[in-house]
Amino acid sequence: MILPTPGTIPLEFAVIEFIPRRNHCNVDNGWCANQANQFTKPRIFRTMALRDILVYPDSRLRKRATPVETVDSAVTQLIDDMAQTMYGAPGIGLAATQVNVSKRIVVIDISEAHDQLQVFINPVICGSGERVETEEGCLSVPGIVAPVSRFSQAHVTALDRHGVPFELQTEGLLAICIQHEVDHLDGKVFVDYLSQLKRDRIRKHLVRESRPEATGVARSKENTPAL
Ligand code: NI
Repeated sequence: MILPTPGTIPLEFAVIEFIPRRNHCNVDNGWCANQANQFTKPRIFRTMALRDILVYPDSRLRKRATPVETVDSAVTQLIDDMAQTMYGAPGIGLAATQVNVSKRIVVIDISEAHDQLQVFINPVICGSGERVETEEGCLSVPGIVAPVSRFSQAHVTALDRHGVPFELQTEGLLAICIQHEVDHLDGKVFVDYLSQLKRDRIRKHLVRESRPEATGVARSKENTPAL
């Protein structure tokens, strides 16, 4: 998903526009949300690894993720890897499905300073409020921005990175972002909300870009971190 900003490139042009990547990697700040969704002190990540992000139309993005049964060291390692991958992309949200792990885990950081990581394990969301249309992009659909209609508010229950349950009433960008990421866990990609014509155009573009002879650079709209 991509943060809505003025001047978003229309879909028709997004596939041909060159957009330089931003370099704002910030992987040292491992903030964690506690039960009250307040953020703990930053800590230094353990050894982390960048994971490959699946790109649409990869069929593995269609797999429905299964719940995490035990929050063990393998899960926390995955969370750390996902956070580093998200910050490095750069993006503001990432679902485990996107790094080819079929577990219901989401990481999000919508803060300007990229220092407020939020972790959602087994998130369950309930949308409410009016429907709002927001320009979205996605780390699995690089370079594409398109309007998607979602609930303006969302109530979330989940486990934090320590396995502690919490709940959260969200609105604005965080509400949009969590809906986008939970879609990933259910095997859904934001382009599914677009017309068949637009989806076909995006699919052809990304397949073409994935070929070895393609010279295009992975794109991320300036000032619009992807989800
Ligand atoms: Ni996404």
